[in-house]
Amino acid sequence: MPEFLTLDDVALEGKTVLVRVDFNSPIDVETKKILDETRIRTHGETTIKELVEKGAKVVVLAHQGRPGEPDFVPLEQHAEVLSKVLGKRVKYTNGIFEEGVQEAIRELENGEVLVLENVRTFADEQKKGTPEEHAKTEMVEKLAPLADLFVNDAFAAAHRAHVSIVGFTAVLPSVAGRIMERELKSLSRVLESPEKLCVFILGGAKGDDALEISRYVLDNGIADYVLTGGVAGHVFLVARGFDLGKPNMDFLERKELLGFVPGVRELMQRYPDEIKVPLDIAVEVGGKRKEISADELPTDYPIFDIGAITVESYARVIRSAKSIVVSGPMGVYENSEFVFGTKRIFGEVADSQGFSLAGGGHTVAALQELGLSDKISYISTAGGALIEFLMGKKLPGVVALEKAATRKP
Ligand code: 3PG
Repeated sequence: MPEFLTLDDVALEGKTVLVRVDFNSPIDVETKKILDETRIRTHGETTIKELVEKGAKVVVLAHQGRPGEPDFVPLEQHAEVLSKVLGKRVKYTNGIFEEGVQEAIRELENGEVLVLENVRTFADEQKKGTPEEHAKTEMVEKLAPLADLFVNDAFAAAHRAHVSIVGFTAVLPSVAGRIMERELKSLSRVLESPEKLCVFILGGAKGDDALEISRYVLDNGIADYVLTGGVAGHVFLVARGFDLGKPNMDFLERKELLGFVPGVRELMQRYPDEIKVPLDIAVEVGGKRKEISADELPTDYPIFDIGAITVESYARVIRSAKSIVVSGPMGVYENSEFVFGTKRIFGEVADSQGFSLAGGGHTVAALQELGLSDKISYISTAGGALIEFLMGKKLPGVVALEKAATRKP
């Protein structure tokens, strides 16, 4: 578990607190409205609520989308959602550090909340840099003198060495918010001496991520088994020597995933029993599901799910697990013909008495759709940050907090 300070270590009453959250939400490209308020709710109900209740003057920093993309929109509606969550008026400013914004920060009363404009409207925000380099940017130079404390609650953006993530930690006392704390605690439970057996279930569309995560968790004795499905499973099947047939091989080529096959093969040679690949799969024939054994490959039809024999074999492993990490669905669960593998495997995870952790956009959406979310021990708010953490990478936002903790507030 990383060593950083938390809200328990600092006085908050009357203090001006800059809190970096991850409000980045799915946006309807037509109406530009927020489609899912989960992230705003998560930060609002925990860290921001606590800051308000403890009498801090709360200044919220967050991003939404990336410049040039359709979901790059202002944070005004995020502030409205936050008002609803907190049950009190939340102020919003149309800028980040201009004179008017500075004035609004100075005028805050204890317990008031001000949401600043999307930090990515600041041109330098997304430049990679060290805390010391970013401390020299206009955003940090203008805002830091107005604040007493920086709180980083944005675990889901902690893999970005951006100005608003690391810059303030060089010049202000800095602590982790409750969500940052909760995410790191839950992840440490599965990555640092997890209760055995420990099983990683890797599906979804990103075969390259599955390779890096498998390598890290197997080489470090974290996982006892890695169960593969989804497109990740296809890459592992190819590495085991199967030709999946033209539509599936073409798909892997288009997605530039075939380049990872030698890496996966090398890993599978070292962990022949620990890495499990599908024994059978479901292909789409005329809009319908048809299951075939892996030995019947290649196929002329697209593979959209794992088959019933694989489900049974994976289920036996999951039933013996005490720690389970799930990242990625087992197939095209959005199509009712191919939801079977995801439904059965996620159902086994939900029924497990062990500690289960799930994360990633599609995984969380599938769990919600299947009505299983409440039965998972911990659902991470993060996507990319979670993947990098599971690969054993140090997240710049977390490293910056650790460094700041060596200077007591
Ligand atoms: C996320 O949604 O994964 C985070 O908010 C990071 O967003 P980004 O990938 O645009 O940096």
